[in-house]
Amino acid sequence: MEITVIHGQIHRGSTYHVSEALINSLKQSPDDQVNSFMLPLDGPTYCVGCVSCIYKGESYCPHKDKVKPIAEAILRSDVIIIDSPTYCLDMSGQLKTLFDHLGYIYMTHRPNGEMFTKIGVAVSTAAGAGAKSVTKSIAKQMFWWGVGKTYRLPFLVKAKNYQEVPELIKAKIAEKTKKLGCKIQTKIGHVKPGLKSKALFKIMSMMHRGNTWNPIDKNHWESRSWLNKATPWRG
Ligand SMILES: Cc1cc2nc3c(=O)[nH]c(=O)nc-3n(C[C@H](O)[C@H](O)[C@H](O)COP(=O)(O)O)c2cc1C
Repeated sequence: MEITVIHGQIHRGSTYHVSEALINSLKQSPDDQVNSFMLPLDGPTYCVGCVSCIYKGESYCPHKDKVKPIAEAILRSDVIIIDSPTYCLDMSGQLKTLFDHLGYIYMTHRPNGEMFTKIGVAVSTAAGAGAKSVTKSIAKQMFWWGVGKTYRLPFLVKAKNYQEVPELIKAKIAEKTKKLGCKIQTKIGHVKPGLKSKALFKIMSMMHRGNTWNPIDKNHWESRSWLNKATPWRG
């Protein structure tokens, strides 16, 4: 199994510990590989809005050297874990910056067929409020990449750092991450996209049939026969 974890922060606080607990529950053998990225250290700087990734190709992004290793790790992985502390009721700025660089893999543009059978997990912690909406935002990004099944793990930790998290909440984190890890293990290799995902794919396929504005997007769909009946998932 290969797992990619993207931490939307650079410190090892409450959010980091939730993701680590999940990874420990997921790992079944020493051969399981974990690719870990911490933002902003391992990520790109702000998107400059050149739209080169969308209209010319991702290799034209001025920050490709930082984006490419992350995009490649995501593509190799069975499970993608993305976390962020709740900052002002939203995800961290550095995580949003990474998402801005991955707009070219949106279903609107050039999704990768393998995404539709992958599993995503969106993680966030908040002292009081906002973690649910952060996991919803992260899950939304993965949905637009085509990720077949996404779970959300929001936690209200009542603390500004991990040391201060009450023991009862730490126990709840341990229990929920263990349970989700076991559940995900049974799903790997059996994921199929949901109805919403399939419907969006169909709409995008119809849109690209008449696409006269972006030849590389159209070619991406055409070369995979997605403009006709073919789909990236089976059945
Ligand atoms: C800039 C900033 C903004 C924050 N905004 C919120 C917020 O909107 N809601 C909330 O409940 N906690 C907020 N917090 C607290 C953190 O979300 C909370 O303590 C979280 O568990 C920290 O996770 P970490 O230990 O991984 O950094 C904020 C903290 C910081 C530093």
